[in-house]
Amino acid sequence: MDFFKLIGKRRSIREYLPQLVEAEKVAQIVEAALRVPSSRGLNPWEFIVVDDPDLITGLAKAKQHGSSFLKGAPLAVVVCADPQKCDVWIEDASIAAIYISLAAEALGLGSCWIQIRERMQTETKTAEEFVREVLMIPPNIKVESIIAIGYPDRQIKGHQREELQFGKIYQNSYGEK
Ligand SMILES: Cc1cc2nc3c(=O)[nH]c(=O)nc-3n(C[C@H](O)[C@H](O)[C@H](O)COP(=O)(O)O)c2cc1C
Repeated sequence: MDFFKLIGKRRSIREYLPQLVEAEKVAQIVEAALRVPSSRGLNPWEFIVVDDPDLITGLAKAKQHGSSFLKGAPLAVVVCADPQKCDVWIEDASIAAIYISLAAEALGLGSCWIQIRERMQTETKTAEEFVREVLMIPPNIKVESIIAIGYPDRQIKGHQREELQFGKIYQNSYGEK
């Protein structure tokens, strides 16, 4: 699909059909994640592809707000990284997460980012600790986000051009139009 059409129609999708994502599409999504640019080519990320319904239901409890919809998704990709491999692992992991989302979109799937890093599950437990326990992730590996993926149960229109914040684009110096 044409890149500009793809980004023009992309929206966060939180409602999914009860239809599995084909193995071939899962393979294309993870391959896309491995093709990202990465600072100094250090590739500090790691990905956990989760299609076990019990684990997905468990992960949906990672936060009090903004993760429960995951229980309706057939697929989740948990984006992790090793901060000892690269100081800018957050940027690297974020780029990978976006490639995953756009690959899903290109394959006719919907997706939504679930923020884990810097979020709490309860007052005393971080979302990251919770996800780490569910998926047995070692303590040296950070959990950045979970990308929920599935066939959309609802179509949401892409952002209209008129809504875009062109006022935030400057020419040559800050604030200059
Ligand atoms: C860094 C980041 C964190 C996000 N975290 C969540 C989240 O935890 N739960 C959620 O439902 N959506 C989350 N989203 C999706 C945003 O809410 C969504 O992108 C935004 O509202 C704009 O809508 P759109 O993606 O349909 O354009 C996140 C998006 C980003 C980029």
